[in-house]
Amino acid sequence: MTFPKHPVARHAVDGSAKLRLFVPLGLAVTAIGIVWALAGGSTAEADGAAEAAVMVPRPAVAKQLPAVEREEAATVAPCTDPAVQAALASGDDNAAVAAFGGGAAFQSAVASGNAPCIDLGDPTRLWLVVNKTRPFTPLEYGPASLASPALVSDSAAGPLRSDVAQALDAMSAASDAAGVGELGLGSGYRSYQMQIDTYRGQVGMYGQAEADAQSARPGFSEHQSGLAADVEQCIWGECSGILDFGDTDAGQWVAEHSWEYGFIVRYVEGQTPATGYDPEPWHLRYVGTEIAAAYAQGGYGSLEQFFGLPAAPDYLG
Ligand code: DAL
Ligand code: ZN
Repeated sequence: MTFPKHPVARHAVDGSAKLRLFVPLGLAVTAIGIVWALAGGSTAEADGAAEAAVMVPRPAVAKQLPAVEREEAATVAPCTDPAVQAALASGDDNAAVAAFGGGAAFQSAVASGNAPCIDLGDPTRLWLVVNKTRPFTPLEYGPASLASPALVSDSAAGPLRSDVAQALDAMSAASDAAGVGELGLGSGYRSYQMQIDTYRGQVGMYGQAEADAQSARPGFSEHQSGLAADVEQCIWGECSGILDFGDTDAGQWVAEHSWEYGFIVRYVEGQTPATGYDPEPWHLRYVGTEIAAAYAQGGYGSLEQFFGLPAAPDYLG
């Protein structure tokens, strides 16, 4: 119960004074009410007039408006959205992310555990996360179909998923138009078997610790998904190799613009504690334009950070 703010009106008058005051006032109020009612005034108005006449403040609680019943904001479950379900069923991952409300909404839903229909371990999806603690399932997974991009490729580069090949060709045309040369493909899809050779070669050359900082073990490389591309700068058909890429103007351009084509630079400076790999400015990972835009705009440094996953600096066993 709350009390009026002006208690003087209630307490500054003694008992007999109250009687002297209220009896004539009561009669006056009644008379006003009758006259008012006869004149067509409402009861409420009459009450108001009477209150004004006695100058007694109405208790604050009586002035409160009835409480408005509010429903708690419903928890949005994006996976129940028919548009999300349809896009997932058709395999249109970009459309699924768009149906979540865009890349930022998608990121938020996944990272907060509000997207049970999104499996970050599904190797066929653009949101796949593979790292040293998240191998492929099955370990020897391979994409159903692959395509060769039109751009210049090293002889052993291998193909890419067709959506990735298309996006890479578009980005190469754009980098050329921007005056930094075309992009070449140094390495695309690598099968589980190929990664055995790649990793063994690195261990043979540099020892295991160094190899683990540069090359994924078989079953743990993004290249096995067909979604990763190691790129290089090519001018008049002459390509500089992937290791120099970060120092070229094409490398700078790609760091700034690759998100526009659906790519992120997966292993960047300062993120070795999260990814377990040294920086690789040449290693691009296709995540689609929706996710790439949110990743770039949010200033994320790793997919682990983007999806709220634990850091993966080393293998579990
Ligand atoms: N070089 C990257 C980490 C890979 O082997 O997939
Ligand atoms: Zn790579």
